[in-house]
Amino acid sequence: MGVAIIPDITFFSSVFSFEGLPTSGLPEICISGRSNVGKSSLINRLANRRSLARISRKPGKTQSINYFLVEKAFYLVDLPGYGYAKVPKALRSFFAGLVNTYLNDRRELRGIIQLLDARHGPVSGDYEMLEWLKDWDGSVLYVLTKADKLSANGRMKILKAFEEEFGKKKDTVMFSARKGMGVEEVWAWINTTLGIENSSKFKI
Ligand code: GTP
Ligand code: MG
Repeated sequence: MGVAIIPDITFFSSVFSFEGLPTSGLPEICISGRSNVGKSSLINRLANRRSLARISRKPGKTQSINYFLVEKAFYLVDLPGYGYAKVPKALRSFFAGLVNTYLNDRRELRGIIQLLDARHGPVSGDYEMLEWLKDWDGSVLYVLTKADKLSANGRMKILKAFEEEFGKKKDTVMFSARKGMGVEEVWAWINTTLGIENSSKFKI
């Protein structure tokens, strides 16, 4: 077994407006998905930290665009989740607007990690995002979360169903923040997307 090298990830800022986005010009990878699908948990797992990004059993926890600086080289961006009805409507449309502008206009955005619940694949709210991703120019990684809640057989079935719907060529990873499943694949995809040479720094 090799020595695990955990990348240095620190909280950078919480952003509430397009003007508030960092101006350093560093590349960005964002994490998108429904409320409660596990976006913040994925960031914590990538960082091997328990509570770098705040998580909650209650959907709608992340209510700002949260920036995390990785190795002073790029940002991981935790987006507010969509599809959670209990967030007040005005707030929901405010964040939807902000996320929309971010996704469409952010020049630094190099790749999107799209999370879907492994137990049921896309559900309402996801379809709009998946449609949008089809036409997006950058790289997309589909991460099927909470895979620990499925049996090995169940995981195979879901992966197959996903590939049938989206095609085998799509980058897809079975992931569990709880068990650490899929972490290396996600890092490998990030490395490739940002053109970071097999640097052991970003490998764990
Ligand atoms: P919002 O910030 O509301 O958009 O949610 P989020 O997508 O950031 O989800 P978050 O990471 O806060 O996780 C939501 C809930 O799912 C928490 O109770 C987590 O503990 C749980 N969870 C996240 N990832 C996993 C996983 O891989 N396995 C299991 N079993 N539970 C998970
Ligand atoms: Mg969150």
